[in-house]
Amino acid sequence: MRIAIYPGSFDPITVGHFNVIRSAASLFDFLVIGILDNLNKKYMFTKTERLHMVKASIKSFSNVSAEVFSGLTMDFCKKKGANFIIRGIRHSIDISFEMQMAHVNKKIDPKIETIFIPTDSTDFCVSSSLIKELAILGGDISELVPNITVKECIMKKVKKVGEK
Ligand code: PNS
Repeated sequence: MRIAIYPGSFDPITVGHFNVIRSAASLFDFLVIGILDNLNKKYMFTKTERLHMVKASIKSFSNVSAEVFSGLTMDFCKKKGANFIIRGIRHSIDISFEMQMAHVNKKIDPKIETIFIPTDSTDFCVSSSLIKELAILGGDISELVPNITVKECIMKKVKKVGEK
């Protein structure tokens, strides 16, 4: 059984993440999306809210699950019996950071491989940060998120932030 982990913040899940999930789901027997907090980032959504949005986006896949975790990605891989880590690459700016992470992870356990999946060319400028900024400033995010549930969660949160 070839099990892969797709770790990330998913704050929120984007159409770019979704296309990476679709590719990974076709390449591996089972894909576990692991939602965690990157210590260097501030989040708009709680991990539970992010999980809700990811779960709403993966309903059509029979071999994909999602859960939250904390600690090292490699420990999560071991817990899930996964031998692969999936990361999406949008453009050259992503590469140096992603390579650094892949090297650190390989040092921790050389048996677990990082697999980079290039995003669709149409998604190269899509990011969670851009979606949040657009939503806050009243732009249309419909094409940038995988489904209406994600859009509604973002718009609800943006409204709450605006009311504060
Ligand atoms: O969506 P992001 O924020 O780009 O995801 C980065 C993330 C969370 C996958 C990365 O920061 C991570 O794996 N953090 C867990 C801690 C860890 O395992 N660190 C060692 C790898 S450098």
